[in-house]
Amino acid sequence: MKTNDKKPNIGIIIGSNRPSRIGRTVAEWVLKEMRNNGLNLNLIDLAEINLPFLDEPEIPAHHNYQNQHTKSWSETISAYDGFVLVFPQYNWGYPAVLKNAMDYLYDEWANKPVSIMCYGGHGGFQASLGMKLVTQGLNMYNMSINPPLNIDEQFFDEYGQFKDIDAAFARYRQPIQALSSEFIDLLSK
Ligand SMILES: Cc1cc2nc3c(=O)[nH]c(=O)nc-3n(C[C@H](O)[C@H](O)[C@H](O)COP(=O)(O)O)c2cc1C
Repeated sequence: MKTNDKKPNIGIIIGSNRPSRIGRTVAEWVLKEMRNNGLNLNLIDLAEINLPFLDEPEIPAHHNYQNQHTKSWSETISAYDGFVLVFPQYNWGYPAVLKNAMDYLYDEWANKPVSIMCYGGHGGFQASLGMKLVTQGLNMYNMSINPPLNIDEQFFDEYGQFKDIDAAFARYRQPIQALSSEFIDLLSK
């Protein structure tokens, strides 16, 4: 638990890295809606972190990292008190880039609260379910607010980008603001 003089650091992880992805736009919108004086919010963009496929000789639970990119990723994640995972559903699962980034570490995730915010048709239900198991396997604390972000063809222009994300996601504003309050209640006492 944190003292009141330090705001909890919440990392909003962007869990897709395709060149034409909407993931960055979705995560920026989530950050805007989560804004709250009681939290430090930052985006963690896996496209920028650019980890190779897991290449450590020892299992992450041993915490005996050989590669500089793993040590840096470990430092990045250790600096956060909680996470929001913003990712699309790919073929009923979560993107490989996100699972790979999670698999690199172990104790850095443990006991930290996490909200699963998957987007897709029908809110990415299957991928959210799969990710819930992964976060439990990493001993994370699943938040009660995990808004499923439903996306529909009519939200997008001819380039596959949002025409108006505020209008498309208006119904998620209230639960996303409530998520900030949930993080503060958990981490600021
Ligand atoms: C490889 C792949 C698989 C997909 N599978 C699903 C799916 O199972 N269910 C779904 O609702 N949408 C699916 N989609 C559509 C995505 O939700 C949509 O393309 C979204 O923009 C992907 O997020 P991104 O742009 O951040 O990569 C899939 C898209 C890709 C690229």
